[in-house]
Amino acid sequence: AAAEKGGYDWFMLKEIDEQPQAVADTLLGRHDSAGRLVLDEMRLSDDELRGVDKIVIIGCGTASYAGMVAKYAIEHWTRIPCEVELASEFRYRDPIVGRSTLVVAISQSGETADTLQAIRHARQQGSKVLAICNTNGSTIPRESDAVIYTHAGPEIAVASTKGFLTQLAACYVLGLYLAQVRGTKYGDEISATVAELQKLPDGIRTILERADAVRELARELAGHRTFLFLGRHVGYPVALEGALKLKELAYLHAEGFAAGELKHGPIAVIEPGLPVFVVVPPKGRDQLHEKVVSNIQEIRARGARTVVLVEEGDTSVDPYADVVIRLPKAPTLLQPVLAAVPLQVFAAELASALGHDVDQPRNLAKSVTVE
Ligand code: G6P
Repeated sequence: AAAEKGGYDWFMLKEIDEQPQAVADTLLGRHDSAGRLVLDEMRLSDDELRGVDKIVIIGCGTASYAGMVAKYAIEHWTRIPCEVELASEFRYRDPIVGRSTLVVAISQSGETADTLQAIRHARQQGSKVLAICNTNGSTIPRESDAVIYTHAGPEIAVASTKGFLTQLAACYVLGLYLAQVRGTKYGDEISATVAELQKLPDGIRTILERADAVRELARELAGHRTFLFLGRHVGYPVALEGALKLKELAYLHAEGFAAGELKHGPIAVIEPGLPVFVVVPPKGRDQLHEKVVSNIQEIRARGARTVVLVEEGDTSVDPYADVVIRLPKAPTLLQPVLAAVPLQVFAAELASALGHDVDQPRNLAKSVTVE
């Protein structure tokens, strides 16, 4: 087992470090040199894809957060209304899906029972199902109409890392492909985004090179029992994922919130010394950056310990941040691929500082094959 871990104490640490390659492998062969998407494996015809008038993305746990990010990207690029739902909730609410609905099922293992039952239900209603999956020949892709495999390689640690990042990459590929087929984005806009996707592996590498500071922070904060994570837009699912990782691995109370909701509740629980992670969106035309920076000021004023993930070169948060984690530059929609990485490192290190089994957290299974 030691040899399989390639010198790492835990599979999770190895898998975190494999992420640049895993993301590169997932993008590989899915675009040509002109930046046009090529999805040879797509078994749905262009006509079928043009006929789609609604997308429903389903998954469980980390996969559902990849789906939340995908919703922002797919709606923005394709203008197709897109819902995200926990697979375990989907079929029990009598969902409105039909022949022109595309259901996208995200699952690393391809065996999650909740997700499998959901796609069976969707197909009974006449919907087409596309799986985004990491496991060749597993049940979910076998029962789907089409599949985009993530090429992360085997993921052994229960808590998903490279599975998540490659799900994001596959979702971006799908969104851009739909935009290309339906003509909702021009070729040069698509190729520009493809070029940005190709920069992500290097961006992840840069974050991993600087990860010592994150590990040190984890050891320093290991005595805390509660952590909050705030994010907005695609930073919101990243906040949820950061909190989930801490729950799974360190058995701590950790909650992710949409930063805009702060004043509608969460701000009441802020107390002196409480560690709050905040994912700051890149500066843009939409004022979200300014709004999140003002959230940081508000929680800092109440004594929280602010750990801020922000694009490098952006010094606007420095006066209000106790700790700054700098992220390489990326377009807003792609930032989750980078911002999730320090949160994975943080959770793994904190769990190991507390003496927990990082790969096999108590009560959890890698793949939950019962509903
Ligand atoms: C389990 C794992 C999670 C994972 C979820 C979905 O709960 O502990 O880490 O995110 O299943 O798994 P899947 O294989 O469907 O992506």
